[in-house]
Amino acid sequence: MKILASYSKVCSKLKDLSLYRKLAKGHKNKPCLDFTSNSYLSLNTYPKVIQNAQDYGAKFGTSGKSSRLLQTEQSIYLDLEKKIARDKKTESALLFNSGFQANVSVLEALLDKKTLGAKPYVFFDRANHASLYQGSQLAGAQIFRYHHLDMDHLRSLLETYASLDVPKFIITETVFGMDGDVADLSLITTLAKTYNAFLYVDEAHATGLFGKNGYGLSTDFHDNINLCMGSFSKALGSSGGYVACSKQLKEYLVNKCGGFIYSTAPSPMIIGACDAAWDLIPTLTSERTQIFEMANYLRKCLKTLSLDTGKSTSQIVPIIIGDENKVLSIQKRLQEKGIFVSAIRPPTVPPKTARLRVNINNSHNVSHIDTFVNELKSCL
Ligand SMILES: Cc1ncc(COP(=O)(O)O)c(C=O)c1O
Repeated sequence: MKILASYSKVCSKLKDLSLYRKLAKGHKNKPCLDFTSNSYLSLNTYPKVIQNAQDYGAKFGTSGKSSRLLQTEQSIYLDLEKKIARDKKTESALLFNSGFQANVSVLEALLDKKTLGAKPYVFFDRANHASLYQGSQLAGAQIFRYHHLDMDHLRSLLETYASLDVPKFIITETVFGMDGDVADLSLITTLAKTYNAFLYVDEAHATGLFGKNGYGLSTDFHDNINLCMGSFSKALGSSGGYVACSKQLKEYLVNKCGGFIYSTAPSPMIIGACDAAWDLIPTLTSERTQIFEMANYLRKCLKTLSLDTGKSTSQIVPIIIGDENKVLSIQKRLQEKGIFVSAIRPPTVPPKTARLRVNINNSHNVSHIDTFVNELKSCL
């Protein structure tokens, strides 16, 4: 069948370019050292988190059963939303089954041309996550991708279109998932205000680690951010997504966001895990300190090997190698020694910037980092 042959052709081409993705079959060696997890605080294995998931399952069942709009009992969802809004300093919040679903469907709804009365202009950091791009694209917005973290470029694009009376949006991650660097929210909020742009921030990798009490960077700028999205699948150790915003925006999303309206409510077990993890976040100060100390130590060690870690200042440390084959070969050799890191290739990152991504979590110590760096040295 010609249609099926087209799909095979794409996969063959990706193989030729060393860009083919495949699922790991499982490894002979159990990882001795795992740097691939986004569960930065190890909350996925916290007894309280697991217990609360079990308790919610026993009390409310395993399934969300139907869309929330078709349910009468909302308390477990509303209670968690209230907590999120309180800690993110917004009027309200709305839960989703995943962060990806939140970004794609919320942006599609917010950028709707009919609602806005004109095609929106979206000013978009080039390194933003695929879900942010897909949502903007699905809505048919005019997308202007500014150079990663380049505020002069963002300002000049905003200035170019300043006199045009169209709805404008700025979309950025706060801690970037593939680079581990951090957006200048102070400057971005000022630009959004100056140019009257709606500011949408994604805190998937910041929640749990950054900001007051660990609830993300947006809390310091809540007056000037229109919507903050986050994920439960990273530091919070579970799954699902949320947006924190005004009551008015929540009302609009409940009425117009397909990813909320037409999706079954999250499983109560997941809500139980998310709720317990959310409560634990402010208590994990020493874990956060340990993570940042280890990430700094790793960057220092990598620098002595003249390796490029970009502008990373967070728990995510990229080692930018450039060549895809080289990245895959280093990853494989490390794996043979029981050390697991992620290989990240284009199109997830720009061409010629293929990299290993090292995620530090609270179980890592100096001896783990030393082992990793020594083994890496022998693979270069
Ligand atoms: C920046 C960013 N936003 C959104 C998502 C999607 O979140 P989730 O994994 O909850 O679907 C990810 C996941 O990798 C991400 O890195």
